[in-house]
Amino acid sequence: MKIVLYEHPTLRTKSENVEKIDDELKKTLDEMVETMRKANGVGLAANQVNIPKRFFVLEVENIVKKIINPEILEKSVETVEYEEGCLSIPGVYKKVSRPSEIKVKYLNENSEEVIENLSEMWARAFQHELDHLDGVLFIDRISVLNKRLILKKLELMKKEFAKGKKYRED
Ligand code: NI
Repeated sequence: MKIVLYEHPTLRTKSENVEKIDDELKKTLDEMVETMRKANGVGLAANQVNIPKRFFVLEVENIVKKIINPEILEKSVETVEYEEGCLSIPGVYKKVSRPSEIKVKYLNENSEEVIENLSEMWARAFQHELDHLDGVLFIDRISVLNKRLILKKLELMKKEFAKGKKYRED
């Protein structure tokens, strides 16, 4: 399993709902947890490993969550700015403003519906990964000034992608 890099078209794909939670999906989720850990991430979305389906994995303080068909039910009015990065855009870190608390709904790997309130790192990572499923990257949500500051890095990644560097090597 390999993580695709910035400019890969799957990162810009709006992913489709999972219809059935079977052994194959569970195996994929386990592999994604391994891949995320190897790359030192706190989250990894299915389309980052070239699967355009609505699921992702998170790991915060040694707790793993496997999230399938996620939805945000409520968002706090209060927002918070926090520095984000992305395994598909290595070396780029910028502040993103997001609701500080969210109420979410999803299926876990046992096909159980989970409804819970998330805050701090969980809320941050959940929103970042859910964006991925809609083809949205954190760099789409940064300020114009910050975007200008990373433009060169993005251009370089674009060139390398065109030359064949399509996957992250960890
Ligand atoms: Ni990401």
